[in-house]
Amino acid sequence: MAELAGAVGIFDSGLGGLTALLAMEELCPEADIIYFGDTARVPYGSREDPELRVFARQNLQLLQCRGAAGAIAACGTISSLLSRAPLERPPLPVTGITRAAAAAAVGTGARRIGVLATAATVRNRGFLAEIQQLEPGARVFFSACPGFVPLAEAGVNDPEHPELKRAVEQYLPPLLEQRPEAIILGCTHYPLLREAIERLTGDIPLIDAGREAAAEYCRRVKPRGSGRRQYLVSGDPQGFCAAAEKLLGRRMPLPERADPGKAERG
Ligand code: DGL
Repeated sequence: MAELAGAVGIFDSGLGGLTALLAMEELCPEADIIYFGDTARVPYGSREDPELRVFARQNLQLLQCRGAAGAIAACGTISSLLSRAPLERPPLPVTGITRAAAAAAVGTGARRIGVLATAATVRNRGFLAEIQQLEPGARVFFSACPGFVPLAEAGVNDPEHPELKRAVEQYLPPLLEQRPEAIILGCTHYPLLREAIERLTGDIPLIDAGREAAAEYCRRVKPRGSGRRQYLVSGDPQGFCAAAEKLLGRRMPLPERADPGKAERG
């Protein structure tokens, strides 16, 4: 497949980064996009920081080999880690989702901000640092939601699905007790489950972190191209397509299989 020189690379552990891709398509339809879902290694949120840093470098290397000129880490787990300790000499300039999401949350006027995220993101506190840099008086409350990513990856987003219902009822109430005025969906998979989450959050503004990052990238980089797409996954291409179709309600082209470990070695 042809390389997309000047393209924007978007990566995530799986389907979640498609939320950033959809925003990019809407805001900057001419951008050439290379999407990589690291589905052979999903979930990222239960992994340790050193391993996540290796994955981040390998994924960027893969996108660079395919012709990307810049990248969005459309993954809260990687972004919040890199926002605290950026990669040394990354293969590509990389934009995370934490800064843009923090700015959007603070921009609502909220001073009590909730963050729904993976266990790794809750642990590394990247969102806390970004929010308090913008608004030192802000209070930030976290809830780790380890059950959400496997459900989204399986194509489950029906709010009536018993496992999703159970997960939402487990993760949301402790956060809502803190009376957040805005909630960051700090993992890019979570907007795919928005309907189920909104049943409990009601009219509290929900910040879609991947969307905010794509908007920020479009404003800053103004990517040009001819709207070309390249989809890559490290796991099962059919499984990715089937789950994406269920969640997004649209047909996806079959992605190519790619090995990010090999990209780094090559
Ligand atoms: N969508 C990613 C995130 O934003 C990864 C979640 C995971 O793989 O656990 O954190």
